[in-house]
Amino acid sequence: MNARKSGGSIAILLFLLIPVLLLGKDPRITVNVAKTTAEISPEMYGIFFEDINFGADGGLYAELVKNRSFEFDRPLRGWQVLKKDGAVGRVLVLRDDANRPRNPRVAHLKIENGGAGFGLVNEGFRGIGVKEGAKYDFSIEAKKVDGGITGITLKLVNDAGQTLAEGRVGGFEDGWKTYTCELTATASEAKARLELWFEGAGELQIDMVSLFPRDTWKGRKNGLRKDIVQLLADMKPGFLRFPGGCIVEGFDLSQRYQWKNTIGPVNERVQNINRWNFEFRHRYTPDYYQSYGLGYYEFFLLSEDLGAEPMPILTCGMACQFNTGELVPMDQLEEYVQDALDLIEFANGPADSKWGKVRAEMGHPEPFNMKMIGIGNEQWGPQYIERYKVFAKALKDKYPDIQLIAATGSDASIFPNGAEEIAYLWEQWRQLNPEFVDEHFYRQPDWFIENTGWYDQYPRKGPELFVGEYASQSVGVASPDNRNIWKCALYEAAFMTGMERNADLVRMTCYAPLLAHEDAWQWRPDMIWFDNLKAYGSANYQVQRLFSLNPGTHLLTAKVSDAPALDDKKAGLHASATLDKNAGEVIVKVVNATATPLSTEIDLKGAGKVGKNARMILLTSPSLDDENTIDHPEKIVPTTSSVSISGSKFQQQFAPYSLTILRIPVSTK
Ligand code: AHR
Repeated sequence: MNARKSGGSIAILLFLLIPVLLLGKDPRITVNVAKTTAEISPEMYGIFFEDINFGADGGLYAELVKNRSFEFDRPLRGWQVLKKDGAVGRVLVLRDDANRPRNPRVAHLKIENGGAGFGLVNEGFRGIGVKEGAKYDFSIEAKKVDGGITGITLKLVNDAGQTLAEGRVGGFEDGWKTYTCELTATASEAKARLELWFEGAGELQIDMVSLFPRDTWKGRKNGLRKDIVQLLADMKPGFLRFPGGCIVEGFDLSQRYQWKNTIGPVNERVQNINRWNFEFRHRYTPDYYQSYGLGYYEFFLLSEDLGAEPMPILTCGMACQFNTGELVPMDQLEEYVQDALDLIEFANGPADSKWGKVRAEMGHPEPFNMKMIGIGNEQWGPQYIERYKVFAKALKDKYPDIQLIAATGSDASIFPNGAEEIAYLWEQWRQLNPEFVDEHFYRQPDWFIENTGWYDQYPRKGPELFVGEYASQSVGVASPDNRNIWKCALYEAAFMTGMERNADLVRMTCYAPLLAHEDAWQWRPDMIWFDNLKAYGSANYQVQRLFSLNPGTHLLTAKVSDAPALDDKKAGLHASATLDKNAGEVIVKVVNATATPLSTEIDLKGAGKVGKNARMILLTSPSLDDENTIDHPEKIVPTTSSVSISGSKFQQQFAPYSLTILRIPVSTK
């Protein structure tokens, strides 16, 4: 070969090789199909409901009247008195503790002259959402006191003053009685208001003014918003953690969540201020209360509807440590412990037990079969351990099978001496052995993708892990500027592959918070957003849903080799794998966090026969800043297609910025 020719060949060779040398080898994902390493917990992917962001009243709970029983700090908050020409009268607030001890305030109308109209108007929860053609059930408790108020004309009205629906109740009697009527909307409106026009003159007391859409989830009275529950049901969550969050602890102990106040007839539930009413000055929400129309019974029912294990989190005699941190003295803890014991009886006891009977009377004679319960939410310090021990002893003595969840404070990065406090708690939990320990992470997206190995080194002996709250914060913890951008969701997906790879230890996980009203939120990001008419899932919801719908039954080891680097701390490719024994499929979840397509070798080591066609579920978006919004709710949604597979070792391309789930038919050897 002459020198010129050989020089030319070398140049061609280099030309061909340089891209390979620069780009490195194709990444590989090796899955050991021959050996399962653990069973995936059926509760691996669940949901966490807390009444934050108008999650309950104004959200999931379908009631459309705000402050229906005049129990807010300002009894007429949300209401306004209307007087047309010649109308003379006033609305007094009566506190009738003797007759209505749990819901004492009533509005007492004294109308001297009805003139051209004397009325009350309710603004709803940032308006009242009504849908054309839909039916609404109005009800009101009323008691005639004196004279002749003969009826109330009801109107749903829009901003322009047009009537969208009309109804009437009347024939009021001397004692308290409930009056009802049906309204049908002639047009749709997200921000209607409800007007009550009183006919005649005289004195009338009213309470529990209520308006519900007929079309609630499962058509239940006192029901839940159908579209929001549907989004939850679509996830097939393994458990429902409720009712909080900091809300269980309360700003102080007087505001703690007391489950007994949330059951029984709705007009006897003891309303409470919502701690998120005043927590953030920048998102001050003075009209945020808890009617508890969505109370413990409804939570259990919802869990049952969703096929999710109910997971109540109880107050343990410690108010929120981010607020007052008030403690119940140890010698007064008994009431709290008794509440916990009674709750187990309410959920699981026979219908003739004291609390089982209450459940049965509410319509559910069969037990709810609650398996687990959390003692405290974000608690820390020796004072927590002291209280936890008393709870654990009492609960386990009476109900040895109940599984206990203990906390590890909050996210280490947001509470004083977080890392030390968590280390101390873990030391204690390793001795006290609750079934689960709950960890929370509210970090920036980078943290999630840099820590996919977070659980790799955790000791395998001792309590199992519950990652009870986590969410990637695009700006900072609970910053009002946070958004549910694709970057957050994608990096959470990477972290989830890490949790799944450790599913022998990490047995339950859930995102937080769950719900947020577009006009009344306090905290973001959130998984599901809604206004008064519509609801949609964020990109984070889509990620959660895909993991939840594709958990598999058994864990397989999955190793990523030669992953491209995003930078010196972050790998660009992440994966986990499980086997679905029922479907006969290997499920591989892959996150490509890079901006380029990644051709990747997948090696299903030890697989028997591999089917020719796999199902590929793909969630992707061209920009990391993309997000779903109320106007574009389906910008980031999954697509499903079929891909051809050639044997147990094959090449697969993963789209830029994507989560891909491959379901590959495989027989194990
Ligand atoms: O999810 C919002 C709040 O974050 C929860 O109430 C609390 O547990 C955590 O600090």
